[in-house]
Amino acid sequence: AAREQPYRTSYHFQSPRNWLNDPNGLMYYKGVYHLFYQYNPHSALFSNGIVWAHSVSYDLVNWVHLNHALEPSEPFDVKSCWSGSATILPGSRPVILYTGIDANYRQVQNLAIPKNESDPFLQEWVKFSQNPIIVPPIGIEPDNFRDPTTAWWGPDGKWRIIVGSWRDNIGMAILYQSDDFFHWSKSEHPLFTLSNTSMWECPDFFPVSTDSTNGMDTSTLNPSTKHVMKASFNSHDYYVLGTYNLELERFSPDDDLKGASPDLRLDYGKYYASKSFFDSAKNRRILFGWVNESDSTEDDIAKGWSGLQAFPREIWLDRSGKQLIQWPVEEIKTLRDKNIGVKSLGLDGGSTYEVSNITASQVDVEVAFELPKLEEAELMDPNWVDPQILCSEKNASVGGMYGPFGLLALATKDLREQTAIFFRVFRGHNRYIVLMCSDQSRSSLRNEIDKTIYGAFLDIDPQVEKISLRTLIDHSIIESFGGEGKVCITSRVYPVLAIDEAARVYTFNYGTLSVRIERLDAWSMRKARIGPGESLVSQC
Ligand code: FRU
Repeated sequence: AAREQPYRTSYHFQSPRNWLNDPNGLMYYKGVYHLFYQYNPHSALFSNGIVWAHSVSYDLVNWVHLNHALEPSEPFDVKSCWSGSATILPGSRPVILYTGIDANYRQVQNLAIPKNESDPFLQEWVKFSQNPIIVPPIGIEPDNFRDPTTAWWGPDGKWRIIVGSWRDNIGMAILYQSDDFFHWSKSEHPLFTLSNTSMWECPDFFPVSTDSTNGMDTSTLNPSTKHVMKASFNSHDYYVLGTYNLELERFSPDDDLKGASPDLRLDYGKYYASKSFFDSAKNRRILFGWVNESDSTEDDIAKGWSGLQAFPREIWLDRSGKQLIQWPVEEIKTLRDKNIGVKSLGLDGGSTYEVSNITASQVDVEVAFELPKLEEAELMDPNWVDPQILCSEKNASVGGMYGPFGLLALATKDLREQTAIFFRVFRGHNRYIVLMCSDQSRSSLRNEIDKTIYGAFLDIDPQVEKISLRTLIDHSIIESFGGEGKVCITSRVYPVLAIDEAARVYTFNYGTLSVRIERLDAWSMRKARIGPGESLVSQC
């Protein structure tokens, strides 16, 4: 029998019901990972009365839902408890900074501390009696001032945070400093600004190592660090790499930002309000991000829920120093069940190959393609500057020379429903150009959903590197990682036929030139244990 809720996920975090958005207050504390998130206890849609829901995990895979950590209650947050971050102060003392929507709908920054630091689950939080600790500065509209970051500490003994803001069409990260974490003063100039953006939401500012893939504590600053300035605006999560000068309180981007927005994104699909934290247990930096629905509000009301968290990703600086790499945290392997492996398989032009004997609605697939005759690739047209438009114009049904080739996810046997994650390779002036696309246009027989096609250029040289793709398929979410994590594209899909046992996964090649699958591995995925504590006990 068809499930009543075919779009509920099996290993992507979601709440039991209702609306969910941004991840908040991420931290690793006393052996436990904490995920707080924006949650509406009253409805499957966003409204006033947003709380900080709270879940904990030992492995970033299985989660137990706890009571809400922060709920609107005081004049300084009576309308909502909006996004914010955790900082672990010296002596292992966690602190939360969050945005309160106050009685006058002003956005103010508040502080909360655990009631009992010896509880590793940090179940109860106490709001500071002197909240708000920061109010909107003069010249900033009180509804454009939110989402404080994790604090970092300088050798001068001062703590620093940034708060997202916007004014005169300029997005900005306003910098604050404090000696004691309670009293904060605004720095003379913002840490960073960018013209022609919408409001800067959920900024994040953190160091990455230039000589290792290890993560760094947010306060680390030494000659082998670069800094990442990330912000959510214009519906996407953008980032810029650069240098942070603590004495001058300046962040200087590595590249000139010629356009309105930087062209680097954490994800080129549906992914927003992401936030990272340093995991001291495994010396890595981990990124969470909110994945919204692509269906209608009526659908959300009918299903009674909305929103997922992307699978947590480890994040580090690419060897080139020019972009970040993201990869699902290694703990995902604990969910891998039966494996199907294929080696050295030719895929002629116009062919598909089914990856059979797996749970195709809930699977982790890794595949690498070889292109034997690169010089026969089509010529790149210099006018093709926007990868997303190029992916829409040359969608999965448009044949080329090299490509489209890739995966068909959540597909029916007759391929009437399918989401195609694919590549095309073009010959440019003195290099090859690789385009990666996620084509949702045929993902569902239903019409009233957003089927926007996503795309990005993948910065690899196919002469020396295989074109690799890893895709996490989980009922209504497809997270794809191209080039070993150089490009991520997440999409939401709502097939009506390709659900549960009826779903299939294929590799395909609709280009005229043959490609070779060097290796393909697919794992049926087990269901993660995500639920309230009691239900998990009874599952065991
Ligand atoms: C981003 C955001 C934040 C805000 C929160 C409210 O999605 O709009 O700026 O704090 O969500 O839930």
